[in-house]
Amino acid sequence: MITIKSESEFEKMIVAGRVVAEVHAEIRNAARVGVALKALDEIAEKIIRDRGCEPSFLHYQGTYPASICASPNDVIVHGIPTDYSLRDGDIVAIDVGAIFEGFHGDAAFTMGIGDVSPQARRLIDVTEEGMWAGIAKVRHGARVGDIGAAVEAVGRREDYGVVREYVGHGIGRAMHEEPQIPNYGTPGKGMKLRKGMAICIEPMFNLGTAESSVDDDNWTVRTADGQLSAHWEHTVAITRKGLVVTTLPEGVEPPVPVG
Ligand code: MF3
Ligand code: CO
Repeated sequence: MITIKSESEFEKMIVAGRVVAEVHAEIRNAARVGVALKALDEIAEKIIRDRGCEPSFLHYQGTYPASICASPNDVIVHGIPTDYSLRDGDIVAIDVGAIFEGFHGDAAFTMGIGDVSPQARRLIDVTEEGMWAGIAKVRHGARVGDIGAAVEAVGRREDYGVVREYVGHGIGRAMHEEPQIPNYGTPGKGMKLRKGMAICIEPMFNLGTAESSVDDDNWTVRTADGQLSAHWEHTVAITRKGLVVTTLPEGVEPPVPVG
């Protein structure tokens, strides 16, 4: 279902989003060589609850066991924060969701740990660039294909594997609402976006193949060829006053012009 949010509902999404942004900042500070992924999960859950929110990932679909996803190296998405300790040269994607008074914020970033290879650094930066290229297309009257085409073009420019099996999504009272927002598409095609909608744009780019497989835990998604993957995500709201990236910290402007 597509849901149209009121301005007061968007205000709640902005509160949830800012809590997600705060968690991102704290995890960025805490993540270093030797830190276990599950320690990052504990930091996240505490902040989310201290701010009067709930972690949206915990018990998602009845089985997700943590408040964040932590996806190192060849893990594309949905990595479970285990006792794995970060190593020099790792990259890790951190995905966080919070609910405030029934409304969601959902965002991810990827960072390097210690000395990362130039190739890995570039993958991280270009995946972020792909996310912002998609966000720059969002406005009342734009089409879902405009976003996907813009994201995909950035990934293809670098010859990266652009993951197709996992996509962005509408968001509101549920973390996953319609429409799906693929990281590929054709300009002018797909559903028309309009005021009151909110969507998550979340490219996953791989150094090698776009193909993936799921571990026996039924969550962890890895690249089929074992090469590195990066993931970035923001929640964006098409309010009556224009676009708001709800998962940025308060006072931080998007790095690209937004509708
Ligand atoms: N941020 C992810 C998404 O956009 C959600 C993580 S899945 C969960 O789909 F199971 F961990 F919640
Ligand atoms: Co999402």
